[in-house]
Amino acid sequence: MTLQEAIAARHSVRQYRPDPIEPAKLECLREAIAQANREGGLHLQLVADEPQAFSGGLAKYGKFSGVANYMAVVCPRGSDEAAGYYGERIVLLAQTLGLNSCWVGLTFKKQPGCYTVAQGEVLLGVVALGYGITQGTQHPMKPASQFFSAEGEVPGWFNRGLEAAMLAPTAMNMQKFHFTLLPGSKVKAETRFSLVGSYLKLDLGIVKLHFELGAGEGNFTWAG
Ligand SMILES: Cc1cc2nc3c(=O)[nH]c(=O)nc-3n(C[C@H](O)[C@H](O)[C@H](O)COP(=O)(O)O)c2cc1C
Repeated sequence: MTLQEAIAARHSVRQYRPDPIEPAKLECLREAIAQANREGGLHLQLVADEPQAFSGGLAKYGKFSGVANYMAVVCPRGSDEAAGYYGERIVLLAQTLGLNSCWVGLTFKKQPGCYTVAQGEVLLGVVALGYGITQGTQHPMKPASQFFSAEGEVPGWFNRGLEAAMLAPTAMNMQKFHFTLLPGSKVKAETRFSLVGSYLKLDLGIVKLHFELGAGEGNFTWAG
């Protein structure tokens, strides 16, 4: 499975089977996380075989069960967009390895002893990882026209990028993003206003990665 195929196959999964993630897959995730941290200046950390974060009332309220593995999304304060972009790379890699996932901002219990949050860093949330009881379901879709502006003819690569972005996970499925096609194959990506704004930048990083994978990096450049 390619990362592009993983975009279509991925859905948030909140209930997991007890099967552990095999050591070779954990190693693959660890290597990819180390690379993401180098490229993005982040401090993402894999936490395996740790059921406490999803053992309390919050996890139950969030309908989570059986979560024993997760990635702690730790980054320097203000790096939310990079955390979304590189974190989603790990999410899609996990999907290609046959694993399921779910970004979790709220419905888990912090476990400070299980990962490091250095001075100047923040824990934005975690990504649950493991073998899901199901593969999840497609989130409700809004019309594509809500997500972009363009003058004149819209090229195929732009539509493919947009489709991939619309399949991306966003906090509470808010999908507060907008792409503008500019002259010279430039694309501007922005957040839309929302009263619940805490995850807008993280969501923007996630949808920008999806857009890049869908559109093909060589076909455009980001504006601004
Ligand atoms: C930044 C972020 C935070 C999220 N936080 C939670 C959460 O606390 N609890 C939860 O159940 N789902 C959470 N989600 C998952 C979203 O609800 C889910 O991605 C969205 O409904 C779209 O569904 P899909 O991922 O199946 O496409 C979060 C997603 C993102 C991107």
